[in-house]
Amino acid sequence: MSVTRTDFEYVRNLIHQRAGIVLEEGKEYLIESRLSPLAEKEGFDSLGEYLGRLQRDTFNGSHRKLIHAMTTNETLFFRDIRPFELLRTRIIPDLLAARAAERHITFWSAACSTGQEPYTVAMMLREYFPQLQGWNVRTIASDLSSDVLARAIQGRYTQLEVNRGLPVKFLVKYFTRDGDNWQIREEIRRMIEFREMNLTETWSFLPKIDVILMRNVLIYFNQETKRKILRKVAPLLPANGYLFLGSAETTLNIADEFEPFPEASAACYRLKQAKVP
Ligand SMILES: C[S@@+](CC[C@H](N)C(=O)[O-])C[C@H]1O[C@@H](n2cnc3c(N)ncnc32)[C@H](O)[C@@H]1O
Repeated sequence: MSVTRTDFEYVRNLIHQRAGIVLEEGKEYLIESRLSPLAEKEGFDSLGEYLGRLQRDTFNGSHRKLIHAMTTNETLFFRDIRPFELLRTRIIPDLLAARAAERHITFWSAACSTGQEPYTVAMMLREYFPQLQGWNVRTIASDLSSDVLARAIQGRYTQLEVNRGLPVKFLVKYFTRDGDNWQIREEIRRMIEFREMNLTETWSFLPKIDVILMRNVLIYFNQETKRKILRKVAPLLPANGYLFLGSAETTLNIADEFEPFPEASAACYRLKQAKVP
């Protein structure tokens, strides 16, 4: 069944207004592939009937489910590897030295999807920085979608998911087998504080954060939304804090508070050092 112009416009406006996500012209197939299963699950005979009903109703949990279903949740362990290498070899050692007095360090995975990103950070901290035991280490992980967040909190992954990016030594050490799946060990799971959070809405309280991973999410937004979000990121970073974006994302020509560190290829940024008080 094809998506009517009215239905396309409706979904496009809804996800843009509520989540900042831009659906380009010609992406009707995304609506069809992502929302048809939801329409069926919700008991409708057709996608058109389902979308018609949502258009008549005021905003409620069903609209929220639609928005969640329209998000792209692609992720993997150690995604793009370079950012994690930079964290391991340079950034975390520098932070350990800089924070030695207060022994406090905070990470935020700001669109964590099913959890591979924050768990990668947590496993790295356990594996390479045993000296952090006894420090106050916070790793916050948030996402707009309660569905992916529920999976992240569960920390259970399929064989296919652990085959993507996760070194065998980490699999053996930090997961247990659970039938056909792999369960992240409780000692790693409890290192993460999960939160539902929409980056385009008012942010609930966040402390100063040493390392922000906001990767592969700005790509779904327009320039204005990206700018607004990056403007909210800047005050959260201390002078020697770091912002990681996805490899296809940049702060350049969007928010001039940031500069690349130490080279743009790891998609890592700091506050412009000249502007730091
Ligand atoms: C492609 S995944 C990126 C996952 C991970 N950061 C990575 O790089 O592998 C994008 C995530 O952004 C989330 N997202 C989309 N719009 C959002 C918004 N307005 N606020 C918070 N999260 C959002 C989606 O739910 C999805 O899980």
